[in-house]
Amino acid sequence: MGRFARLRAAGVGFVVDLAAQPVPVVVHWGRDLGELDESGLAALAFVGEPAVLNNSVDVPRRCSVWPTEFEGWAGTPALEGHRGGIATTPRPRLVEHTLADNRLELVLDDEITGLRVTLVYTMDSSGVLSARATLCAKKSDTAEPYEVAGVSTLLPLPSRAVEVLDFTGKWCRERSPQRTRLGHGAHVRGSRRGKPGQDSAFLMTVGTPGFSFGEGEVWALHVAWSGDQRYVVEQLPETPPVLGGGELLRAGEVRLAAGESYDTPITYFAWSDEGLDGLAARFHALQRKQSRPPRPLVLNTWEAVYFNHDLDRLLALADAAAKVGVERVVLDDGWFRGRRDDTAGLGDWQVDITVWPRGLSPFVDHVKSLGMQFGLWFEPEMVNLDSDLARQHPEWLLGVPGEPGPPSRNQYVVDLANPEAWTYLLTSIDGLVAEYGIDYVKWDHNRDLHEAVDHTGRPVVHNQTLALYRLIDELKRRHPGLEIESCASGGGRVDLGILARTDRVWASDCNDPVERQSIQRWTAQLLPPELIGSHVGPERSHTTSRRTDDSFRLATALFGHAGIEQDLTACSPAEIDKLTAWAAMYKELRPLLHSGRVVRAELPDDGLFFHGVISNEHGLFSLARISTSPAGQSWRVRLPGLSRGRDYRLRIRADLGLPSMRQVRAPEWVTAAIDGWVRVPGSVLVDAGVAMPTLDPGQALLLEVIVDRA
Ligand code: DGJ
Repeated sequence: MGRFARLRAAGVGFVVDLAAQPVPVVVHWGRDLGELDESGLAALAFVGEPAVLNNSVDVPRRCSVWPTEFEGWAGTPALEGHRGGIATTPRPRLVEHTLADNRLELVLDDEITGLRVTLVYTMDSSGVLSARATLCAKKSDTAEPYEVAGVSTLLPLPSRAVEVLDFTGKWCRERSPQRTRLGHGAHVRGSRRGKPGQDSAFLMTVGTPGFSFGEGEVWALHVAWSGDQRYVVEQLPETPPVLGGGELLRAGEVRLAAGESYDTPITYFAWSDEGLDGLAARFHALQRKQSRPPRPLVLNTWEAVYFNHDLDRLLALADAAAKVGVERVVLDDGWFRGRRDDTAGLGDWQVDITVWPRGLSPFVDHVKSLGMQFGLWFEPEMVNLDSDLARQHPEWLLGVPGEPGPPSRNQYVVDLANPEAWTYLLTSIDGLVAEYGIDYVKWDHNRDLHEAVDHTGRPVVHNQTLALYRLIDELKRRHPGLEIESCASGGGRVDLGILARTDRVWASDCNDPVERQSIQRWTAQLLPPELIGSHVGPERSHTTSRRTDDSFRLATALFGHAGIEQDLTACSPAEIDKLTAWAAMYKELRPLLHSGRVVRAELPDDGLFFHGVISNEHGLFSLARISTSPAGQSWRVRLPGLSRGRDYRLRIRADLGLPSMRQVRAPEWVTAAIDGWVRVPGSVLVDAGVAMPTLDPGQALLLEVIVDRA
């Protein structure tokens, strides 16, 4: 290897100058710069070296792989910590490096902190760069452990990256986008909830001015971790902007005695010059490496029956589900001992025989006899004080002993790092999965972790998260093929740490399609549609009370891992017919929807959403009107992602009924496309666009496109 280490894939380049002192410097992350030889790379570094400023250290300040004050770095450092109040000024030096298979490993040795840091960067074939650091406390004669206060993996951005997009939200309104302009200082987002939370920053993206779905250069970071976490984008007057993050550690949480080590979570960095859709495509490609069987159409019992577990009612629900075309039935909360409402029972993971006198078999067997899979709800990390578990093992609960603080949804948290508690949970879930041949677990997590300390008072979110991962991994090892959904009061635990071991997320408890349009559109910024649970609820939403047309609910739920969350036994024959048509449509289109490229359009009308999924030959688009707008026309909308040089045919899918429109007469092409295929050159669709009808609010039009072979 020469002076430079280079990782390249899918048009992305990452270049590190190994000769830079005291530690290597990142000289480029962004567009692949082509076949540069050693002298070209030297020029890249040479012409990028900044000036030495007045009132500044007398060396150029660049962003190294491990920024420290030793280099004159005044921004967020890579490492914060101390050893008994000293050793706060790291001075690492590169001692080893290896580069192979698009993987760069750098070993830094630091006499001051007594740490050896191994940094690994890997460029995936999708172009997503992952970074991870391992800190190992070297053997030393001091008995004082090194306390790790924080580790941030940081990458430099060019100064043209000036706009920040990240996310916030609340229960039933997850992944709400927010934009800010990057000034001097830090834009920091953290979670102290023991999970990413409904307000998770999710994907911190920084881009060129006005970047949009289809345009602009963007750099993004995702922290693949299901516990406390931190994202930062920062610019100081004298140093390049940096984007970084990692685990948010509490004081005393990670203390390294000699020989002990700490692994940071994986941080994923992605770049695109094709705007947010380009970024999404990279993340989707990364996650699609894992092949999965077709995503079965789900029926979840929660909003159909809540805690009213009555066998006859559930059998009738399963019958109705099978007729509609459901492929997996999930029995939600309410099946275990004492769980007649949300005040009791959590922790007692045995079937409640007062409600299920013959166990779950009569239901499970019926579901399976109808050819459907069976799924069961758990909330393993949680406990109600009104449970045998809490009564018998108060020492298994997190928090100050005897003073657990306020409950949240009447519940507290089990200390998963306690081996006995962990084994109890594993044995309980494992036993039920084996006994009933459970295909799918909905794994819920309905409260934030506050005062998450063990009985010695030590903060535990780090260990809790690792123990959670071990628990899921062990269950999956024992039951290959078992699928798990990550749910946390809806979409409160959506991250690539949990998704490395689960199979989808429940994006939100909100099934109101008006809200769901936005929640799914932005969840898809990181996750491919097939990992996003999206269910059709009843006419009147249980979480917003809004009434919507079924065609809108169905069109919205189509673009994800689809399911039903309503009492089918209360539906009219006409509603059942429509659900059946939708189920067939989902099965017909899921090969496209679960493998294609997600494309979204930025429309001047805020009340109008346009998105689609396209493959090489085929595409399905949705025009959804969320609210009315002052504009009379919806004007021409350009179809993103198609090829200008090809001819296409397009039609309107009326399987779910047509949306209601507010106009005397729809554009003529609409009438023609309802009746059959309309031939349109690609350049017209891509560059000129198609005049859209004026939909009423809460309506969606589904547009299918295929390549014209005539
Ligand atoms: C919260 C989840 O998000 C819901 O879907 C449901 O499973 C309830 N918990 C059950 O308590």
